[in-house]
Amino acid sequence: MYTPDRQRQLFERSKQLLQQQDKVATDAARQEAAALHQVIVYHEWRYYVLNDPVVSDYEYDQLYKRLEALEAWYPELISPDSPTQRVSNDLTEDFPSVAHLVPMLSLANSYNAEDLFDFDTQVKKLCGLDAGVAVQYNVEPKFDGGSIALVYENDRLLRAATRGNGAMGEDITSNARTMKSVPLTAAFSQHQIHRVELRGEVVIRKDRFERMNEERAERGQSLFANPRNTATGGLRMKDPKEVTNRGLEAFVYQLGYAVSEDGQDQLPRRITHHEGIDLLGTLGFKIPREEMKVCQNIQEVADFCREWEAKREAYPYEIDGMVVKVDSLALQDKCGYTSHHPRWAIAYKFKAKQGTTKLLNVEYQVGKIGSVTPVAKLEPVTVAGVSISSVSMHNEDFIRKKDLRLGDTVLVERAGDVIPYIVKPLEELRNGSERRIVFPKKCPVCETVLTRAKNEAAWRCDNTTCDAQVVQRMIHHISKDAMDIDGFGKSYVERFHELGWLRTLADLYRLRYDHVAGLDGFGDKSARNLLDAIERAKQNPISRFLFSLSIHHLGKKASKLLAAEIDHVLDLAQWTTEDFTNIKDIGPIVAENVIAFFAQAPNIALLKELERLGVNLRQTEADRPRAVSADAPLAGKTILFTGSLQLMGRKEAQEKAEKAGARNISAVSSKLNILVVGEKAGSKLKKAQALGTVQILTEEEFVALIEN
Ligand code: IVH
Repeated sequence: MYTPDRQRQLFERSKQLLQQQDKVATDAARQEAAALHQVIVYHEWRYYVLNDPVVSDYEYDQLYKRLEALEAWYPELISPDSPTQRVSNDLTEDFPSVAHLVPMLSLANSYNAEDLFDFDTQVKKLCGLDAGVAVQYNVEPKFDGGSIALVYENDRLLRAATRGNGAMGEDITSNARTMKSVPLTAAFSQHQIHRVELRGEVVIRKDRFERMNEERAERGQSLFANPRNTATGGLRMKDPKEVTNRGLEAFVYQLGYAVSEDGQDQLPRRITHHEGIDLLGTLGFKIPREEMKVCQNIQEVADFCREWEAKREAYPYEIDGMVVKVDSLALQDKCGYTSHHPRWAIAYKFKAKQGTTKLLNVEYQVGKIGSVTPVAKLEPVTVAGVSISSVSMHNEDFIRKKDLRLGDTVLVERAGDVIPYIVKPLEELRNGSERRIVFPKKCPVCETVLTRAKNEAAWRCDNTTCDAQVVQRMIHHISKDAMDIDGFGKSYVERFHELGWLRTLADLYRLRYDHVAGLDGFGDKSARNLLDAIERAKQNPISRFLFSLSIHHLGKKASKLLAAEIDHVLDLAQWTTEDFTNIKDIGPIVAENVIAFFAQAPNIALLKELERLGVNLRQTEADRPRAVSADAPLAGKTILFTGSLQLMGRKEAQEKAEKAGARNISAVSSKLNILVVGEKAGSKLKKAQALGTVQILTEEEFVALIEN
């Protein structure tokens, strides 16, 4: 029998089997990191590109963690091309990339009925509906495969693309054409639709997957990891015949974009989301007809989601949750979007895999706006292929509600398959030695007494000059989405801050070349590059600058919206709540926080100082919303730049082309109108010449054309 004692014994024993890895000296670390770098890149290629890994997820994770550890000990070992510095993106070299007609967004997540009720409340608020009114939702499975976008024009399949990075995907048309569930023609024109983009998921039946693996085993071939990888890998196979063999199927679940011959929006607004999907069903697409349901209120949604969670295993396809969508397209419009997801939809994620381990310690991290987050340090445990040793506990309430104690054995779950969290302590395993977690009264960094606002869960350090906050704000300021200072990483901020060089954001722009160049690990060249990148960042559009300021609740999208409305950043100091809320998609919370920021004299002083140091605070061309008129010089044209450009950078050229009305594409095909050739242009130029339909321009000719 498994008495608590016996369980504890078994548990401790299994943990002893985990090995410790020690810190090594600098030179050894450098060599080890270089070797790790190479093997990890190799395994990533096996896994993501070939879809045929040769090590287990666990072994891969061990390698990755080891490299992370070495880089944490010796930040100078981090190079921008280290596997740890990679951002998620599944573009490969094999397929040309194409721009989606509308960005392929993600979904907000929820994990329980409570989240769904919050979502419902939010939807009603956005739609201006009374709390008592019921909103209808369509609920459908959340397929766990590879997402695709299908474009039809003149009733014919024109293009299929993977999600890629959301804005650009890989053109996998030839593979999609092999899937019998993807109609090659569909009668959209009967509905006045000339061009349409559909969203869907490519999946493989679980039984088919199993049979395939059995056959592969018989032939002595390596096995596929899971249906999802088999589907996403299948989408990117070079030989379309092979794709057929995998038995891929595509469900469609979203009508993203539809226009008539004269370019009018033709999303059938008179109908609802589920009627739109039914329409696609009648046009020959594979839709989750039997699986989806229109629920009359959020309680029904919650019940339906739970019902599916219980029967998930019996369903022939892998699903990792349900997707809840406001059914009325008119209400969807009122909800709008964030830059990450539609506000009218939410994913209800099913429970993920779990594991148990010991809660060893709690560390407290101070964020960029001062919130103090307790982070549980765990004995490392592998859950669904990932080693977990540190998880956020969010706030004090989380600890109290779950009654977590130091020394507890805890149940850890990888919710949504990525973010691990603590489900609960296993009380039956307690032996009396567990200790209460005492949440600090003072900031662990600057010792300011922590405060907690009425409606907030976080304890906050209100000292905006607290070292931890200053560092976090700087890290945010230089980050990709903010000022995007090339080559300036987190570790440099921490190092320069420790040296006393960075007290305020303004100090970033006062860094001295001779200081940086004199540092261990820096040379003339790297110091020069860093300072050049800082210099360049000064000219950023103010949308980036606003976002870089770490104003609570002011996200990327809201920053863009504000930037479009002002001539100068300091204009915002005069704004009233109404000025803010008059802008679509800006709410009172953003207003309140921006107003509070500009009400502080030190913040105004900082902005003025930054401007004196040369940082741009005036609206630029890039801040203005783009409306391309039909008589723009390159209106409706597709364009591609090749070779090395002499007059401008590639990004700049592409932006200029876009402003002139063109769309950048990345491959030479019959769809390409203009090819601009720089120096040493190669195969693309040859291919375009062979096609004979592409207009070929020098850089000078391009500039002359757009300036005309
Ligand atoms: S709707 C703008 N519906 O889930 C609408 N997505 O986590 C966004 N997914 O990238 C997507 N089943 O690949 C939607 N019934 C469904 C879905 C679904 C699976 C995937 C999709 C998306 C991901 C977001």
